[in-house]
Amino acid sequence: MFSRRLYQSLVNDRNEHPERFNATRERVEEIVYLVLGPDATSVVEQVRRIVGEPRAHIDERQGHAIAELLGDECSTHQLNRIADTLMDSEISTGEAIDVHERYKIPVSALEKDIIPVRGDGAWIIDTKGRAYLDMDSNYSATNLGMSNPEIARGLYNQATQLISMKEDRVHIPRTRFLKTIRGMTPEGLDCFYWQNSGGEAVDKAIKIAKAYTGEKGVVAMKGGFHGRTHGAVAVTENRAYREPFFLDDEDWVHFVEFNDLDAIEALFKQGAAKTVILELVQGEEAGIRPAERDFAKKLRKLCDEHGAVMIVDEIQSGFGRTAEKEGQWFASDVYGVVPDIITIGKSFGGGYPVTAVVTNREISDAMQPGYDGSTFGGNPMAMVAAMIATRQMRELNITANVIARCGQLRKGLEKLAKKHDALHEVRGLGLMIAIRLSSETLVGDVQAALRERRVKASLSTREWLRFLPLLVITESDVDYLLNALDGALMSVG
Ligand SMILES: Cc1ncc(COP(=O)(O)O)c(C=O)c1O
Repeated sequence: MFSRRLYQSLVNDRNEHPERFNATRERVEEIVYLVLGPDATSVVEQVRRIVGEPRAHIDERQGHAIAELLGDECSTHQLNRIADTLMDSEISTGEAIDVHERYKIPVSALEKDIIPVRGDGAWIIDTKGRAYLDMDSNYSATNLGMSNPEIARGLYNQATQLISMKEDRVHIPRTRFLKTIRGMTPEGLDCFYWQNSGGEAVDKAIKIAKAYTGEKGVVAMKGGFHGRTHGAVAVTENRAYREPFFLDDEDWVHFVEFNDLDAIEALFKQGAAKTVILELVQGEEAGIRPAERDFAKKLRKLCDEHGAVMIVDEIQSGFGRTAEKEGQWFASDVYGVVPDIITIGKSFGGGYPVTAVVTNREISDAMQPGYDGSTFGGNPMAMVAAMIATRQMRELNITANVIARCGQLRKGLEKLAKKHDALHEVRGLGLMIAIRLSSETLVGDVQAALRERRVKASLSTREWLRFLPLLVITESDVDYLLNALDGALMSVG
């Protein structure tokens, strides 16, 4: 019997879904096997007779014939599962991987173990209909849920009204954003230069600091990470990121050990630098390493004494991730300092790309019209996402959840450290948490064992396995993670 629901998932209604195609035969086969198991063979043979080419998109006639065939062969429950999984993706897992392997410039290792198609809270669902608890939150960007209906509605409304407007021009969505963000950023930091990625924001923060100080020297920390643009890479210590691009010998950058005030002071005194950039919790490169408690305040004092600009990169740590008390939106708040400049990103748009340099009026005034510019910086869509995301963070009282879940997670991890010899150390601040295992190889094994237990934990730095869960993670999600980790450590032990 012909199944209309299935037909609608096979043959796309372009008015409803301009972002999709008709299904491919290969995808139909993949899902039929998933839902029917080995019994699918004869059905698949019939599907092949209807459509010849595996990766061609079926036409209406073929869609009709398949909807009739499967309507006869499957139960209602099976038909619904097939239709739902097709709506998640009309393209097969194999084809998605193949085109990425063929056409993506391989700047990074391709993650192809899980291909997410949908999100629900802290969970993602992959092309095979499997749900995973996400411990990566897309490098800490999707903190308000892997899907977000309120942001989606706002973006849709904005796109149908006015999709883009350059950085220079006054517009209303940005005005709304500026009215909403008030009181969230550290005291006095209320001037924004919007960008699209974290690396860009770091680049522009350095330019602004140079314009203000009139000096080119910048101090950066060993073990820090600031992104992949030319400027951001230049201040990221890992040589492997800089060397291929001849950025390993920049005369304006000076690396010092994290927490080493004397080294910074010496550079200030020599006149080698008048800007310092750092993360207060080193994320990517150091395997989550918070600065020493009094370091930030002492650095603030040192910068004041030398008239130096203190840039804190809050791209990963910002918007509540590191909170110890409610309302501590930035790591700077936790450390009790007001930097001269912060860079923000990731969480800022609830997953939509929007970043910014935020500074005070005095530093901001060092920039003159014509010094910089951006086509997309602070565009209406980005401002809608940032306005709704920051409002949600406050309305959800997200820092309270960070504090509660951090307590629960740390307690559970400490308990596991006592139980499993391979787990040596737990370290972090708020929901930037890492565990140190016996070796890098073991980290890989535990990641694989976690994947089998439906936890996506793809972040690691050498022997550190890093957890950056979504900030909306629930109590039962954390219990799920701890159980899975216990099982994973047991299985590799
Ligand atoms: C502290 C910090 N700064 C900058 C960046 C770069 O951000 P993006 O990848 O958006 O360019 C990152 C990304 O991980 C980061 O963690």
